[in-house]
Amino acid sequence: MLPMETLDSLGRHLRDLRISVTDRCNFRCTYCMPKELFGADHAFLPRASLLDFDEIARLARLFAELGVSKLRLTGGEPLVRKDIEKLVARLAPIPGIADISLTTNGSLLTPAKARALADAGLKRITVSLDALDDATFQRMNGVGFPVARVLEAIDNAAAAGLAPVKVNMVVKRGDNASDIEAMAGHFRHTGHILRFIEYMDVGNTNGWRLDEVVAGREIVERIGARWPIEPADPHYRGEVAKRWRYVDGGGEIGIITSVTQPFCRNCTRARLSAEGALYTCLFATRGFDLRALVRSGTDDDALRAQLAAVWHGRSDRYSELRSLQTPLQAGHKIEMSYIGG
Ligand code: GTP
Ligand code: 5AD
Ligand code: SF4
Ligand code: SF4
Repeated sequence: MLPMETLDSLGRHLRDLRISVTDRCNFRCTYCMPKELFGADHAFLPRASLLDFDEIARLARLFAELGVSKLRLTGGEPLVRKDIEKLVARLAPIPGIADISLTTNGSLLTPAKARALADAGLKRITVSLDALDDATFQRMNGVGFPVARVLEAIDNAAAAGLAPVKVNMVVKRGDNASDIEAMAGHFRHTGHILRFIEYMDVGNTNGWRLDEVVAGREIVERIGARWPIEPADPHYRGEVAKRWRYVDGGGEIGIITSVTQPFCRNCTRARLSAEGALYTCLFATRGFDLRALVRSGTDDDALRAQLAAVWHGRSDRYSELRSLQTPLQAGHKIEMSYIGG
């Protein structure tokens, strides 16, 4: 069937689906899964509660029929899910899916894994790297993982043709803000696109404070003072990162300002958790249980109608409300490691 247009209550289309394939991760980033709170006794989702690849592929096909054209695989760390390339091979051929990418910490991205993902149909990859300084990065990732191995992962992705590789740096004042220029300098003229992300108040465990956020504006000024940059047009309406280009041809950077300049107005993203709950906002407190429907034999038409109904009812705009300083819902927010950013 032809893709339909599916709009929410604020007139926003359903275009992207971000699929979390696991809530586990081998890192303990301070801003995401602080090790004091995600220790050896932490209860991750049991295996049987995760959607299997058949279930994920079926839901992705139904989402595509409702207008989704972009898929992103996330976690936790998506590469800890066994045979993830087999899922990519199931998702890439779905009619209507034009783009499929994955966000990883890079620790498991060997040359063979990168090639297997590309062969399966993955188009692009985003690797998280918060600092170039080893001591800073090892402290932030919580497990002492070295910078050099993430840089290798970025090379492996590019060598497999998963390019341009995007590199995500979450900027936290007092932790890695002093590495902004070093990161920019390192990735200029490499063809990789470095994106600076404002530290967000996702979840309940990272002890977020506004004074630890470095505003995108400040990042642009600091980089511009070193290497002149100019704004570049968005690739598409609703692009999360604002693009800036080095005037000397050194490539481009992106700035993701969800705290100081929210982009909810154009937010076309749905999120599927590893256990099959559908969330209509990164900051949601509750999801819609699709797994129960999938496992009780609901047919495609009924399931598709249910997905559309959830989207039609959507009115989320958390980041805009936060910046308007209205009282936020008091509910328990989901964790980043559970929904994958
Ligand atoms: P491409 O443009 O396809 O490369 O994707 P992207 O920019 O969405 O990439 P990515 O998934 O790497 O997103 C970068 C970061 O932006 C995420 O890790 C989040 O921190 C943040 N982000 C992405 N989507 C949203 C969103 O809908 N709301 C908020 N508040 N933040 C988001
Ligand atoms: N604020 C901003 N970005 C975050 N990420 C994880 N937690 C946060 C947070 N609190 C980023 C990761 C990764 C992506 C999935 O989301 O660094 O790049
Ligand atoms: Fe793992 Fe990514 Fe969270 Fe770090 S940000 S703990 S790598 S899921
Ligand atoms: Fe979309 Fe929610 Fe992020 Fe706003 S806060 S951009 S509605 S996911």
